[in-house]
Amino acid sequence: MERLRVGIVGVGNISGIYLKNLTTKFSDRVELLGCADAIPERAARATAEHSLPRTYQSPEQLLADPDIELVLNLTIPLAHFDVCLAAVEAGKHTYVEKPLSVELDQAERLVAAAAANNVRVGGAPDTFLGGGLQTCRKLIDDGWIGKPIAAAAFMQNHGHESWHPDPEFYYKTGGGPMFDMGPYYVTALVNLVGPVSRVSGSTRTTFPQRLVTSEPRKGTVIDVDVPTHIVGSLEFENGAIGTIITSFDVWAHHLPLIEIYGTEGSLSVPDPNGFGGDVKVKRFNHDEWHTIPLTHGHVENSRGLGIAEAADAIRHQRPQRASSDLTHHVLEIMHGIHIAAEAGRRYDLKTPGVRPEPLPTDF
Ligand SMILES: NC(=O)c1ccc[n+]([C@@H]2O[C@H](COP(=O)([O-])OP(=O)(O)OC[C@H]3O[C@@H](n4cnc5c(N)ncnc54)[C@H](O)[C@@H]3O)[C@@H](O)[C@H]2O)c1
Repeated sequence: MERLRVGIVGVGNISGIYLKNLTTKFSDRVELLGCADAIPERAARATAEHSLPRTYQSPEQLLADPDIELVLNLTIPLAHFDVCLAAVEAGKHTYVEKPLSVELDQAERLVAAAAANNVRVGGAPDTFLGGGLQTCRKLIDDGWIGKPIAAAAFMQNHGHESWHPDPEFYYKTGGGPMFDMGPYYVTALVNLVGPVSRVSGSTRTTFPQRLVTSEPRKGTVIDVDVPTHIVGSLEFENGAIGTIITSFDVWAHHLPLIEIYGTEGSLSVPDPNGFGGDVKVKRFNHDEWHTIPLTHGHVENSRGLGIAEAADAIRHQRPQRASSDLTHHVLEIMHGIHIAAEAGRRYDLKTPGVRPEPLPTDF
């Protein structure tokens, strides 16, 4: 297969694992040509560290390179839309870290621009393609828990200001626990249970300010502009009902990460922000939970798997799994919960529901 030629825009905190995986484990499908950043020294450092073949002084220069076929956008959420749109208008496929965009109408404009330019938009997370979540998908598809009737997803912690070097964006528009961590949980739920037709929600902002305790911005006070405790109810197209809590306000809890409940049993799902983990099933006639051996590979940190799968899809002219349909649906679910909370009524989804095809066990 001819490799897909990729360039990265934005080489901050998360870029290291992409740079590593795209130049090693996924280098049979992807050729990483180079990278660019608003801070050119960051791009120069990453280019040297990973011996990338091309050097770009700016994102504009990278977009002007006719050899680049796909732009991997690893900028902060507030920059996702502008960088993706510029890439699409330059005739490049794009793949963006989560969320797809900050505002819903930006996602609509981006999807329309991609169609007009005959290129693809895809996006993170790709953890749903990992061995843990694909094993869960196979167990559900093979009927181990019967028909799914309900799901529970809980992501609760006390925020990122104790470890992230630049945590401000987590508390600004486009941040908050739902838009930051929700993509992992909601994508996993759509992959496992199916598309969502309607949502409702309640939100609160418990702490109006956050004190940064990580270096180098230790002592900085961040004004919190977004809800930081979000409770949502999801009505799936197939009739199942989901409950989700995402919070940056909780010091400790005993709730599971994700569980799926079916007519014949229950499934315990591993961390959707990882690729492997323990998968457990307890059927109605079991005395205890059984840990299931994983059926799929990619169980270590495989960020970039979605790009490798997209590269394969582009070359074989088939739909990719981490698609714009999926990330757009996930974005609308997350927004819908906030909109419903503000309006005090349920929100009907407009994006067409999509459930990605399961990954073949040998991918
Ligand atoms: N940090 C993590 O652990 C983590 C994990 C998973 C996903 N993500 C996602 O990855 C993305 C990046 O997060 P991060 O933690 O690496 O942020 P970061 O702030 O560390 O890095 C972002 C980089 O993008 C650059 N940038 C910003 N705007 C730009 C623009 N318009 N053009 C070019 N470069 C620009 C910045 O200079 C910076 O180097 C976010 O969408 C985040 O949600 C982060």
